[in-house]
Parts: sequence; C-alpha cells; structure tokens
Amino acid sequence: MSVRLGVNIDHVATVRQARATRDPEPVTAALMAQNAGAHGITVHLRGDRRHIQDRDVRLLKEVLSVPLNVECAASSEMLETLIPMRPDWVTLVPETREELTTQGGLDAIFLQAHLKPIIRELRTSDIRVSLFIDPIADQVTMANRLEADAVEFNTGVYSDLPRSADPKVELERIAKASRLAGKLGLRALAGHGLNLQNVRLIAAIPEIEELNIGHSIIGRAVLVGIDTAVREMINAIAEARS
Ligand code: PXP
Repeated sequence: MSVRLGVNIDHVATVRQARATRDPEPVTAALMAQNAGAHGITVHLRGDRRHIQDRDVRLLKEVLSVPLNVECAASSEMLETLIPMRPDWVTLVPETREELTTQGGLDAIFLQAHLKPIIRELRTSDIRVSLFIDPIADQVTMANRLEADAVEFNTGVYSDLPRSADPKVELERIAKASRLAGKLGLRALAGHGLNLQNVRLIAAIPEIEELNIGHSIIGRAVLVGIDTAVREMINAIAEARS
C-alpha cells in the first residue's frame, strides 16, 4: 500500500497575511499541489487567524477534489465555524497563542471528557476526526475509546533529533504506536517536521497510511515551485515503500 501525502499550505497564507493582500492565493497553491499528485490538502485554522482565514476553508472545500483536512483546537468556536463548512476531516490539535507551530500532541487522556462530545458532534456531522497525539500506547487506546477515526502521530521529536543521533528508539516508538492503531482499526497518520531527508524512515513504517507535510514542501516551493516540491516529496515517500 502506498502512503498518501497531505500537503499543508498554511505558509502560503502566512506570506499573504504578511502584507494583508490577496497574494499569494492559498487556493491556487492547493490546486497546484493537487495537480502535482497531493492526496489531500491540510490547513490549520488557528483561533487567532494568523494565516488561514475562514474564507480559505470555505473556498478550498468548494474547489478541491481531494479531501480537505482542517487542523484546529478542540473548542466550541471551531465547531461552530467548521461544521457548516463540512471539511472531510478535522484534526484536533493542542494550540497555544505564543507557539510558532503545534507543540507536542494532544493529551487525549487528560482531555477525554472535553473531547468526547466534540468528536461525537463532528462525526454525526459526517466529518471524520483525527487526533494529533504523541506515539504513546495509552493515547492511542484513548483515541479509540473516544471513537476517533484516525490518529496522527507527532513526528516532532524524531524530526528534531540531531543528525548525529540514532533515530532507532524514536522510530520504534512510532512504529509500535502505529501497529497498535492498526490493530484497533484506527487509521495511522504522521507528521511534523518531515522533510526530504528524514521522511523515508517514517514512510517505511507499514501501518502509516498518510503523512501531513507543510513547512519543508512550501519552503522548497519558494525555490523550485510547488509542482516540483510536491512531486519530489511523493517520489521520496514512494521510494521508501519500494
Ligand atoms: N501535522 C500537524 C498536526 C501540524 O500541526 C502540522 C503543522 O501545522 C503538520 C502536521 C505539518 O508540520 P510541518 O509544517 O512541520 O511539516
């Protein structure tokens, strides 16, 4: 089975917001990524709307033919905003105002009472739910108990390892958690900090179905164009499974 690539286009909106103008248009970037073979598009609708705006989500849902995944905080404001827009997936992530990007996974055990009705409401609205969690068995078990459809494993610790470090322990943690997710019938996704250099070892984990990658693809797209950047990543992922 090949691994699907979800391209996170938040950084395109970040450049647009730097001047509060219309360019570059995230919808155009998403369509170009889709054309290059992306299997899905991901955006993070943050509470402070620092990059992606509500209108981006609305337009993306209208024009994309691949699934749209919206990352967001588990809040009632996000439910009210997103449910009418009907994204295909919602990925619940921890969110704090000061962070540059998502820090660590959601603590599904600590937050279980809060998450339960939110997950139920999304699923009854025909929106599939993924939980961004650290690769820890108890978190996977809780995601299953909360009836999430998928878990996305935080690869941030693996991605942040110094080049000289042996990634074996961290990879085994992710592989073990992925096997458990597979056994429980949860789809296993992964992402955070993945790039052309470190993606192969994660893509080689058999239970991982999809990778969500943003920074490295959009960063590379500035230099070589989004079409090339997406194709390069798809090829790197495919090589890992061949
Ligand atoms: N998955 C989740 C849940 C994220 O919050 C992010 C960052 O927005 C990513 C994947 C993509 O991470 P990166 O931009 O480092 O590729």
